[in-house]
This record gives sequence, C-alpha cells and structure tokens, in this order.
Amino acid sequence: MTIDLAVIGGSGLYNFPGLENTTRHRIETPFGAASGDIVVGEFAGRRVAFLARHGESHTVPPHRVNYRANLWALHSLGARRVIGVNAVGGIRADMGPRVIVVPDQIIDYTHGRYTSFCDIEGAEVRHIDFSEPYTEALRQQLMIAANKAGVAVLDGGCYGATQGPRLETRAEIARMKRDGCDLVGMTGMPEAVLARELDLEYACLALVANFAAGCGDEAEISIEEIFAHLAAATAEVPRILSVLLKS
Ligand code: HPA
Repeated sequence: MTIDLAVIGGSGLYNFPGLENTTRHRIETPFGAASGDIVVGEFAGRRVAFLARHGESHTVPPHRVNYRANLWALHSLGARRVIGVNAVGGIRADMGPRVIVVPDQIIDYTHGRYTSFCDIEGAEVRHIDFSEPYTEALRQQLMIAANKAGVAVLDGGCYGATQGPRLETRAEIARMKRDGCDLVGMTGMPEAVLARELDLEYACLALVANFAAGCGDEAEISIEEIFAHLAAATAEVPRILSVLLKS
C-alpha cells in the first residue's frame, strides 16, 4: 500500500488526532512484535500510518521498545517517509518547555539495545554512513511546513539519547552539555539508525517537556509538569504535518 507519511508517536501522542477512515494492522516481523497495531487512515487528504512507540496505553518503556520491529513493520506496510515525535528535555537555554526542535545531530548514550538489522546470525553485515543521522530534505520540509502553519520550531540541535526510563542526574546532563548535546531524550536511538538501515527518510520533531536536570530553576523535575507541557506541544504536531502533507 502507498503510505504518504508514517508517524511514530512518543510520550503524550498515543493516537493521531484527525486520522479518519482508519484500519488497524498487526504486522509480524522477524524481530518480534511492534509496540502495537499500526493505524492507517486519511489525514489532510493523504494516507498516514501511525504507531504509538510506547504502546497505546504507554506500557512499553524506552529501553524495551522493539525499535527494529517498529521500523520493519512500518517499512513492510509501505512507509518510506517517517517522522519520529519525541519528548525531550532541553539542555540549551533557548530550548525550554513547549519549544519544538527539529534536531540535526545525535549522540547515543544508550546501551543494550538492538541497534542494527544485521544483528542476527548469518545476516550480511552492512556498514552505513550516518554522518547526518536525519534526512535533511525531510527536516527542511518539516521546518517549511511549521513556518507556513505559524508554529515556531528551532532548526537544528544535537539530540543526546539516554537509556531511561529514569531522568538524568545533573552531572550526567553537565557532561552531555560539554559533549555538545542540546536536547536529551530516551527514544531517538536506535530508531534513527534503523530507519537509515532500511533506507527510510527519517526526521524528528522533538517536543521539549522540561529543562533537563540542572538546566532550569527547579531543584527537581516535576513529572506532572512534563506531561502538561507535552500536551501543549503535541497539539501543534497535526498542524505542522497537515501542511507538510498538502505541500
Ligand atoms: N530527559 C530524558 N528524556 C526526557 C526528558 C529528560 O529530561 N524530558 C522528556 N524526556
């Protein structure tokens, strides 16, 4: 089937508002089950596939997401263009709560996750270029669409992917800042590299939910506030994607 756009929803985005005439698809993959059914429907006159990364009731933690099955399932349904929507903490001063960022770089601090499709016995080893971890053309399309939709987004930034599900210590964030990270999230990797291995176009809409540990005024990060900020930023996502799909 032709899918114009696939969206992987993160924390706070468990179904895609405005998706109509939907069908649900449970795809078996050589890597096991995806996080849930892929919901395919019409949005902005185009066919969109939606998958909730953590499951529709948020039951799959970041380190247990079957990233390989998710990407494989979307690809096998016919998706070629994927937007990952990710909740993040802001490290850079201008990346506070509710800011939306389209990152352009990644540093991976995760461990123990399957990071390649050639991880199985006998599979041919394939080395891929990952200098630019996101598809630049898709990043540009996202920013143009946001602009047209009147939604402010920041162009570029380095996403530091941590293991979760706990938030980071102040020392960890200080180190990440020294490393050059602007944002911190738990799900950006290995999703991006697996998309690249499948030759999918892939870009990220990073929704800032809080200042990362030690970056804001608060001594502690409130999880309730995270979800309130996320809800506000998430509401902008369909507006951006609607313009993207119409252009
Ligand atoms: N750290 C990691 N992941 C996150 C954060 C954070 O502060 N906020 C939202 N996702």
